[in-house]
Amino acid sequence: MVPNMAGIEEAVRILKDGGLVGLPTETVYGLAANALDGGAVAKIFAAKGRPQFNPLIIHCHNFDQAAELVEMNADARAAAEAFWPGPLTLILPRKAGCPVSDLAGAGLSTLAVRVPKHEAALAVIKAAGVPLAAPSANKSGSLSATTPQHVAEAFGDEVELVLAAGACAVGLESTVLDLSGDAPVILRPGAVTAEELSEVLGRAVVYDHGDHDAPKSPGQTLKHYAPAVPVRINAIDLLPGEALLAFGPIKFMGIRGGGAAKDLPEDSLRNLSEAGDLHEAAANLFSMMRALDRPEHKAIAVMNIPKTGLGIAINDRLRRAARASGFDRLD
Ligand code: TXA
Ligand code: MG
Repeated sequence: MVPNMAGIEEAVRILKDGGLVGLPTETVYGLAANALDGGAVAKIFAAKGRPQFNPLIIHCHNFDQAAELVEMNADARAAAEAFWPGPLTLILPRKAGCPVSDLAGAGLSTLAVRVPKHEAALAVIKAAGVPLAAPSANKSGSLSATTPQHVAEAFGDEVELVLAAGACAVGLESTVLDLSGDAPVILRPGAVTAEELSEVLGRAVVYDHGDHDAPKSPGQTLKHYAPAVPVRINAIDLLPGEALLAFGPIKFMGIRGGGAAKDLPEDSLRNLSEAGDLHEAAANLFSMMRALDRPEHKAIAVMNIPKTGLGIAINDRLRRAARASGFDRLD
């Protein structure tokens, strides 16, 4: 589903006027503003309730537009060649004279850039003629939006237009790859994995989840991806009152004290992928967590998800959600 020309023109008009637009991408919906307009960017921080030390990703319609903003290096060229347009964000030094608002980059000497793989997003960025700052379209700290309804529920009138293009294909935020230092480091796991990047760059690419004293990405230190109800990960059975976010078959999953998970009421049970497919699970993750985020549930118990490939990114988001509810020691 791609918005029609009238929708795209309306989005461009609002963006040029300094307003905010809910923008579909292949990963999650973005809350977009003209990245060169500090006043417009300030509206993003205000609407999200986002701390101003947390920088935004700058969305471009192709490599050349991104290369006007940051100092590309050989790794950046290789990664972009292989994965742009696509779910990969590159952290690179800002170019001297880079016109992106300092607020968007949180005053840092580096800038996050990406070219999304979504027809409507690319059309809007190209027609606007400016790069767009666009964080995920959720209130700071809560789950990212993967449908236009999620965006509208979170922001109401604060966003002038949501370009509706159905559910996002990937469902998890882009991989954030820091190429500004000596060695390439993934600051946020996503659909493009360390293995794939190592292959393309011809050298080791490691994950840095920020669980230490000197996190490199401001976003790593923040409470993230948390529903209102506590999240308990790697569950092998259910406690009474818990909802179940399943992965794969649940035939043998029991409820402590008696009962079977498969007999839970419909509102208390979701399966990320009955077939155990990680791509399907990623695409469903945020929508299903939202569906189970209901006050009658004591917690959302999540079954173990393999920590390989896209599973690394899924587990990263789940661990952050669990940490926000004090349950991550069970990890
Ligand atoms: O898939 C995505 O990346 C989505 C869609 C809308 O494109 N956007 C998104 O943006 O997830 P946001 O703002 O929610 O996450 C951006 C992450 C934050 O954790 C931020 O701290 C980090 O990227 N980041 C941005 N600029 C950075 C920089 N210069 N150095 C280190 N981390 C940076
Ligand atoms: Mg976000």
